[in-house]
Amino acid sequence: MEHQHGSSCPIPVIAIDGPSASGKGTVAARVAQRLHFHYLDSGALYRLVALAASRAGVSLEDEPRLASLAGRLDARFADDEIWLDGEPVGLGLRSEACSQGASRVAAWPTVREALLARQRAFRQAPGLVADGRDMGSVVFPEATLKIFLTASAEVRADRRYKQLIEKGLHANMEDVLRDVRQRDERDSTRAVAPLKKGVDARLLDTTGLSIDDAVEAVLAYYRQVCPC
Ligand code: CDP
Repeated sequence: MEHQHGSSCPIPVIAIDGPSASGKGTVAARVAQRLHFHYLDSGALYRLVALAASRAGVSLEDEPRLASLAGRLDARFADDEIWLDGEPVGLGLRSEACSQGASRVAAWPTVREALLARQRAFRQAPGLVADGRDMGSVVFPEATLKIFLTASAEVRADRRYKQLIEKGLHANMEDVLRDVRQRDERDSTRAVAPLKKGVDARLLDTTGLSIDDAVEAVLAYYRQVCPC
């Protein structure tokens, strides 16, 4: 039966949503590693659509063409790398230009729709940890555990700044803080799948927590609800 493993257990999904640079990507990837689950970085899909659009000269205002690009995106996640049209995309996918582009394409309903099935296909045994903005609300509404991971805008900007510098990318603290605030605003006010904590999601504020603490907190929540 689809989405079933064992006798009657649905394949578990841990949905981790939250604003940009909250650390959800790192936390989600580590939780997946610890549980030997699959990992879906849904933001990367929106980033890939923005990148594919820029390569094809498609305007970020052109919803129909963006949706069509999203529907036939030749993307692959393998060997700790993300591939677009058969080539590794490298660090460019994490650039602020790509972040802004992703947030703009993500506001179009038909682009979101075009990525739905692709995201759900990541749900495979023994389980999935999915991170994004609407994992618990739209993509996996029946997720086993839903976490809303956040931190203050200043702490998030500081983390993102350090991450970019560590990767050898150019960054300026003021620009990063402005980008975080702009994307918070755009992601939470859009008409479709806006970023917000669902009533059934557990709030995990990582302002004063290390990544390791946050990973342990998610694992502890999961142990409480783990059905099998
Ligand atoms: O890592 P960071 O949180 O900065 O960004 P991301 O998760 O890679 O997402 C980039 C952009 O994609 C976000 O600003 C959102 O606008 C959009 N996104 C979304 O709308 N829905 C998702 N499930 C994931 C990302």
